[in-house]
Amino acid sequence: MLHHIKKNKKVALITGITGQDGSFLAEILLSKNYEVHGLIRRASTFNTSRVEHLYTDPHDTKAKLFLHYGDLNDTGTIRQLIYSIQPNEIYNLGAQSHVRVSFDTPEYTADVTALGALRILEAIKDFQIHTKKKIKFYQASSSEMFGTTPPPQNENTVFHPQSPYGCSKVFAYHATKLYREAYGIFAVNGILFNHESERRGETFVTRKITRGIARIKAGLDRKIFLGNLEAKRDWGYAPEYMEAAYLMMQYSVPDDYVVGTGESHSIHEFLEIAFKEAGLGDYKKYVVIDPRYYRPAEVHNLIADTAKVKKVLGWKPKTNFIQLVKIMVGADIKNLKNVK
Ligand code: NAP
Ligand code: GDD
Repeated sequence: MLHHIKKNKKVALITGITGQDGSFLAEILLSKNYEVHGLIRRASTFNTSRVEHLYTDPHDTKAKLFLHYGDLNDTGTIRQLIYSIQPNEIYNLGAQSHVRVSFDTPEYTADVTALGALRILEAIKDFQIHTKKKIKFYQASSSEMFGTTPPPQNENTVFHPQSPYGCSKVFAYHATKLYREAYGIFAVNGILFNHESERRGETFVTRKITRGIARIKAGLDRKIFLGNLEAKRDWGYAPEYMEAAYLMMQYSVPDDYVVGTGESHSIHEFLEIAFKEAGLGDYKKYVVIDPRYYRPAEVHNLIADTAKVKKVLGWKPKTNFIQLVKIMVGADIKNLKNVK
């Protein structure tokens, strides 16, 4: 576990490195010459496909990405990793991140998504006291925390979460703020609105749609089964959001920032554009409503007010909604062609 610490470069630890955001963030940090460490879970199948292109054998002296087994619900490994790696920056992206699933596994979700953040913050606090070295902390906070509070939502908007996931993220958000204020830790909350990409998990609605379209086009499926199509989200392109996370960690003072596009669109609109892009015509011929995908409570509309992140960090989104849908449809159709 202990490894040679190179003093001349910045060292980052990413939890959730195998996820959509973790893989984009790892690319960004590696391109800036960081030594990057990622926490991965042991699974019976390979779960590192999103970072495979970045990985070289750790015995290679030029290796810059290192993966370590662990889990956000395991305090021991978290502390051991932090003491052995001694990172300059920790990005806590790991979470049970699926809102619908959090209703099925509320306690597990809170353990990983809420207490996981607290475990890292406690470890940083102790590490800083014992070593007198500083570690910066990024918490992947979420627009899901706003829940039913009407849009637009910004850094001062009241939270009214509508899921065990949302409640867990609110806890982690406040813990991050508390450790900043009580212990002087450089700890930031990136309150990110929905962001998608060709690497999005297959069960989130955008990817479920674009993957479903590719399968219909290839003759593998005839229908896509979905839940509530009325909900509206502020959807942006994931790699750009990880640039924002990086900028928050480089700013002179730690703070909290909302990141989004400032526009919201319904699932109906996503379907319309995606099916048109694929040349399949009217989506209503292919989409079937299945109540199993309804949630016990729903977040109806999210729209980011991004004035602060624009003014303070100079960040703004580049990819618009239609471009995002086209990227995702195109990638899924291409993926399936490559497999066949
Ligand atoms: P994702 O694709 O679902 O990735 C989640 C990551 O967390 C995966 O690497 C997963 O590992 C890891 N993980 C899950 N349970 C864990 C555990 N018990 N211990 C350690 N790691 C665990 O999520 P994402 O879209 O990249 O989002 C990244 C973070 O931002 C999450 O915290 C999410 O809640 C938050 N967020 C996302 C959005 C969005 O729109 N994407 C918006 C706001 C906030 P496996 O690969 O092994 O499952
Ligand atoms: N997943 C899913 N599957 N969602 C569906 C479906 C379906 O079959 N049918 C309709 N929806 C609706 C959901 O009810 C919700 O209103 C909307 O599509 C978006 O659902 P998701 O794509 O699952 O995302 P989310 O908004 O619940 O959560 C995502 O964004 C959050 C930020 O606001 C996740 O990435 C969270 O981790 C993230 O914090």
